Amino acid sequence: MKEKGERISMLTAYDYSMARILDEAGIDVLLVGDSASNVMAGHETTLPITLDQMIYHAQSVIRACQRCLVIVDLPFGSYQGNSKEALNSSIRIMKEAGAHGIKLEGGAEVVESIKRIVGAGVPVMGHLGLMPQSIYKFGTYSVRAKEEEEAESLLANARLLQDAGCFSIVLEKIPANLGKLVADELKIPIIGIGAGGQVDGQVLVMHDMLGITKNFSPRFLRRYLNLYDEIMGATKAYISDVKKRDFPNEKEQY
Ligand code: KIV
Repeated sequence: MKEKGERISMLTAYDYSMARILDEAGIDVLLVGDSASNVMAGHETTLPITLDQMIYHAQSVIRACQRCLVIVDLPFGSYQGNSKEALNSSIRIMKEAGAHGIKLEGGAEVVESIKRIVGAGVPVMGHLGLMPQSIYKFGTYSVRAKEEEEAESLLANARLLQDAGCFSIVLEKIPANLGKLVADELKIPIIGIGAGGQVDGQVLVMHDMLGITKNFSPRFLRRYLNLYDEIMGATKAYISDVKKRDFPNEKEQY
């Protein structure tokens, strides 16, 4: 797709019912993101979600998908120890969930793990820029690599990930000109989230783009629905119908 200049569409998914709709709609890639920790489990960060929980979400998504590529995040604590731990976690995701590949965060520090995972036949997607699993190292969710030194380091890390065998890289929340530079420089597809319009594809967290989350409005987010208000309205209407004995009516009973 990159060679053909066709943009790659990617969204996150965590459950069967939603993944089925996204797959039928024609999405290219679904990411079972560790953002499940936030939007599904209500944690403040992505750190608490476990490998077992990621596998549960991934199994549900995989059961729904007939055509798209499904990539699953290695959660915090399941790969940082050493490359054997990283390989074992990846193998669990591939074997127990039937995923098509895994994603992990980091640059030079995860290269050995990437080589080992790729060497075992597992496709790996990298993730640079804002890396939510390292939030306590950076202390903020602000735009990354605005300064030259950090931008150069990001480009160098992207090259390392490509050389280590990554088939694609997610770039999160970086200046658009840096996103373009990396996409132009690398052969593998660069998928952006807040990395501008000149990378090879885009990813958004499904709950954000459908407007289920309300208090998260970064500049890069386009909301395609306002599901929060829709669901609120429908739920209030249901409650009211039950209270006034309007539901069920004659036709809605046996
Ligand atoms: O977990 C996630 O949702 C992600 C996306 C932000 C790319 O990693």
